[in-house]
Amino acid sequence: MAIPEAFIQELKERTDIADVISGYVQLKKSGRSLMGLCPFHNEKTGSFSVSRENGFFHCFGCGAGGDVINFIKRIENLDYVEAVRFLAQKAGMTMPEDGRNDRSAKLKTRIYEANREAARFFYRKLYSPEGKKALDYLRSRGLSEKTIVHFGLGYAPSSRFELVNHLRAKGFTAAEMIQANLANKSSKGNPFDRFCDRVMFPIIDLKTNVIAFGGRIMTDAKPKYLNTSDTPVFNKSRNLFALNFAKNKADGQLILVEGYMDVIALHQAGIENAIATLGTALTQEQSMIIKRHCEEVVICYDADDAGQRATQRAINILRQTGIRIKILTVPDGKDPDEFIKSHGEQGAARFRMLLEKTGNDVDYKLKKLRASYNTDITEQKVEFLTKAAGIIAEIENPVEQNVYMRQLCKELDVDKESMERLVSKISRQEAAKKIRAFRQTAVKQISGGNDKLNRGKVLNLRAANAEEALIALMVLNPDIAGKVAERVDPKLFITDFNRNIYEVLQRKIKNGMDVSMTDISGDFSDDEMSRISSMLISRQQENDAGASADEYIAVLQEESEKLTPEEIAAADNDTIMEQLRKLKEKKS
Ligand code: UTP
Ligand code: MN
Repeated sequence: MAIPEAFIQELKERTDIADVISGYVQLKKSGRSLMGLCPFHNEKTGSFSVSRENGFFHCFGCGAGGDVINFIKRIENLDYVEAVRFLAQKAGMTMPEDGRNDRSAKLKTRIYEANREAARFFYRKLYSPEGKKALDYLRSRGLSEKTIVHFGLGYAPSSRFELVNHLRAKGFTAAEMIQANLANKSSKGNPFDRFCDRVMFPIIDLKTNVIAFGGRIMTDAKPKYLNTSDTPVFNKSRNLFALNFAKNKADGQLILVEGYMDVIALHQAGIENAIATLGTALTQEQSMIIKRHCEEVVICYDADDAGQRATQRAINILRQTGIRIKILTVPDGKDPDEFIKSHGEQGAARFRMLLEKTGNDVDYKLKKLRASYNTDITEQKVEFLTKAAGIIAEIENPVEQNVYMRQLCKELDVDKESMERLVSKISRQEAAKKIRAFRQTAVKQISGGNDKLNRGKVLNLRAANAEEALIALMVLNPDIAGKVAERVDPKLFITDFNRNIYEVLQRKIKNGMDVSMTDISGDFSDDEMSRISSMLISRQQENDAGASADEYIAVLQEESEKLTPEEIAAADNDTIMEQLRKLKEKKS
């Protein structure tokens, strides 16, 4: 990676991490730092902190952290060079040649180009003689010409080589076709078309790149839909079908349906805020992307068992993200596409009526629960109410809670005060559970109990803490960093993980470079940068950095003279006695 250091320096000066992150996260001032809801995990109370002054972010909840480049890498799903280019553009800087030719960015560009070419090819095939049956199929499913063009639908011919040959003639290599997952590799290593004799649905991202395809077979053969597997430009759990269109029509609300055809039928009917996942259950990542485009989601999954299970799952995921939820159940076991079609001209109007009388997720859950009890029998009534209290306890808004309690108590003729007591008891229990879990994670983090990055930490806690403090001091205080680098031999570091970090810092300093977060983010992985951010987060208010550095170095010296736990385990008695004597001397 050859981005000149001077370029990163200038980028650092021209970029304000708080401004950049504000484009994605609402930040509020809290003491010296800014806080908000973490965009990398689901949460309702903010544990995401940004330090403008020290140029880094850190989430206390999920541990994500790093400098502004790490942030852009994660949120825009880019690699290092692409993220630097992204920020450089914002800062009005032109990327130096070397970076532009970066291999991975180039491969991605080629895959986008191959996909676009493939989409054009499939579209043309749909209107060729061999595509006639596909065109007939789409028409028989009620799609208009306009809809077919709008969604860029197409046909993948049944020959195993037509697309491959076409792409080759357009200058794409076999490796590029395979990496794009447009071709598979034969046992002899030759590429052949992945999609054969299928109706093709291009999947388009928010920047209007064609990133993948879904292909439907026109017979009863399996699989019904074949989708592009994950590629360098496509991750099925991070994208949504038709969000590129729906985001501009959302007006606060998106409709989440199960299938490509459901989305297309709804859009054709003028309900253009429908989206779908890509052949998998809704993920947290998708839920957070959805949150960027609306406040309310209408879940409209199939009425069968699988669809209802998926609904429960989606409710839980969306609720954690803080999105308002409504559940629309299409009558007669139909999916939205079938429903609209079965009502002919009236389809759109009928679907809009369903939308209007749709209840929220609490309604849905209570109705489902109630259906499984006979509330004429006292025992069952009590059991139902107890479970219902659990559902109501999850509601955050007390006014909303009250509405449901009043309704239930009236319907089932119970005393509202006792219901209130039950709900608040459950709320307290749930809160206590959450606090306990939070504390447990914190304890684990502190003790390094399941520390996969720095495995040596748990055995050398005192040394590792001093190492981390020293690293933090260096990154936060340029004036101290040089002195530490001169004085401290990497050998003094006991844990390998921290020693590696220190060696990188020392080398950069010796070469006259800075070691602020942005200066080092090209040298470490995202996980390593997250860890470094967690070292900094609690150490920003050091008053006398010089004196603190001396203390930490002293600890490291002391610890390095000690035997390691492994050495003690293997040592003979004399060695251990000698060690104990040394420790005693130090104390007196
Ligand atoms: P459905 O089986 O409900 O299909 O799958 P559908 O969308 O109603 O399609 P039609 O109406 O029969 O043409 C819902 C979604 O699940 C994914 C697809 O994204 C599909 O749209 N799926 C389904 C697959 O990825 N692979 C499959 O084999 C089946
Ligand atoms: Mn269908």
